[in-house]
Amino acid sequence: MLVIAYLLGSIPSGVWIGKFFYKTDIRQFGSGNTGTTNTFRVLGKKAGFIVLLMDMLKGTLAACQPYLFDVHINVLLIGCAAVVGHVFPLFAHFKGGKAVATSAGILLAYSPIFFLVAWFIFLTSLYLSSMVSVASMVGMTLITLLSLFFHDPILTIIALILTVFVFYRHKGNLTRIRKGEENMVPFGIVYNK
Ligand code: G3P
Repeated sequence: MLVIAYLLGSIPSGVWIGKFFYKTDIRQFGSGNTGTTNTFRVLGKKAGFIVLLMDMLKGTLAACQPYLFDVHINVLLIGCAAVVGHVFPLFAHFKGGKAVATSAGILLAYSPIFFLVAWFIFLTSLYLSSMVSVASMVGMTLITLLSLFFHDPILTIIALILTVFVFYRHKGNLTRIRKGEENMVPFGIVYNK
């Protein structure tokens, strides 16, 4: 299950959609990231939504394997292998995304309600900050805190590990935020200030 999860996570949705349908390598433009945000930025809304869905669902599918095979193991443990695949993809020279959409996908397999809460937190943070990177980091941090209410130590430990991982993958974004040079989405409080 771990190998399948890693291989699913390794599908570089943004790179493949860009190459096959737009003849564009998104790694050469925008932030250079292979994820959803840079796909929106470089290829537009349609491609962005498709990549968001693919990056999330590959995490969900990977994490659902214990249900499919009727094995009693925490879905998040298997799902983590998909996040590793997403960040270090076998099919894209081990250079992938920033762990956000696929982490959301494994959360959907764990608890659809918690997944919706996570989306609410993310969208609120995005509205307030106008920066996807800020919304991603704030979102992951608050999800880790909220996980305490589930009384599931595995959930909290994995949420914490993923949060640290997400911050680490956003090193470049943190530098740009400090310099006031981070890319913004064209809406929200900071953008309209
Ligand atoms: O999920 C990635 C996002 O938080 C930042 O993406 O392309 O602005 O570095 P990007």
